[in-house]
Amino acid sequence: MRSIALVTGASSGLGTELVRQLDAGAFGALDEIWVVARSADKLEALAQACATTIRPFALDLTDPASFDVIEDALVENPDTAVALLVNNAGFGTFGAFADSDNVSNAAMVRLLMLAPVELTYRVLPCMRAGSRILNVASVAAFMPQPELAVYAAAKRFVLDFSRALDAELKEVDVRATALCPKFMRTGFLDHAVNDDVLRRMSAVTGFEPVERVAAKALRAARAGRALCIPSPDMKLFYAASKALPYPLALRLERTLMSILER
Ligand SMILES: NC(=O)c1ccc[n+]([C@@H]2O[C@H](COP(=O)([O-])OP(=O)(O)OC[C@H]3O[C@@H](n4cnc5c(N)ncnc54)[C@H](OP(=O)(O)O)[C@@H]3O)[C@@H](O)[C@H]2O)c1
Repeated sequence: MRSIALVTGASSGLGTELVRQLDAGAFGALDEIWVVARSADKLEALAQACATTIRPFALDLTDPASFDVIEDALVENPDTAVALLVNNAGFGTFGAFADSDNVSNAAMVRLLMLAPVELTYRVLPCMRAGSRILNVASVAAFMPQPELAVYAAAKRFVLDFSRALDAELKEVDVRATALCPKFMRTGFLDHAVNDDVLRRMSAVTGFEPVERVAAKALRAARAGRALCIPSPDMKLFYAASKALPYPLALRLERTLMSILER
């Protein structure tokens, strides 16, 4: 059986770093890494930079036909077991919902929620005991976030979907890890924020290095942990968001933000 990893959103940021670390052996021996994103040129460059055989899929994961392409490739390779599926592709936009672009909202919902559901469903038959699923959520999933309403709700879906999946699949030793990073300096910020939001984010939570997030995520997935919150301060935020009633947690978060912003 040939062992592969399938990583979405591999053309930049966290996805690229995950592939680099997989290539360096962070998840054990892999025969191939299948990488998915829209930017064919970037996937090709990544393939050139890796020692492991990279199979690029230049696909838009908001298009339902893309899932058929990946499923067909798996069916055409019956000797292939998926050791790791990483549902990572994503983007988010900040701002008031009433002023938001509705086409972009719909794409966000399709990419962040529907794509992981479709891919996981289609890849599962090719998983074996020991296989792992890594679902990239966000600290934005911990509680509803005004000015980030669609993105935060979609990431909450990823978190809950992942944890339920893990509870269901652990019997057959397939484990799902929900990864909740805080801000990372990746292409995500180019789409998501303006300079003012960026300044506020730097002041409030700071950024975590993408290399460290990727390393911790792969370690957690390998160990079969259901939840990975790489940053210690965000573990505290997670505990507070669970312990406090939402209006109080939100007030606390907003007060802290305005103090830190000064
Ligand atoms: N950066 C942060 O602050 C942060 C914090 C928490 C969570 N996250 C999450 O981390 C994940 C990775 O984001 P990142 O920070 O690495 O951002 P990034 O550098 O912008 O990477 C996003 C990736 O998703 C791919 N993608 C976007 N739309 C796609 C589509 N329609 N079809 C297929 N692929 C698509 C992009 O490739 P193409 O453009 O080539 O398609 C790219 O490879 C996302 O799920 C994001 O929500 C990010």
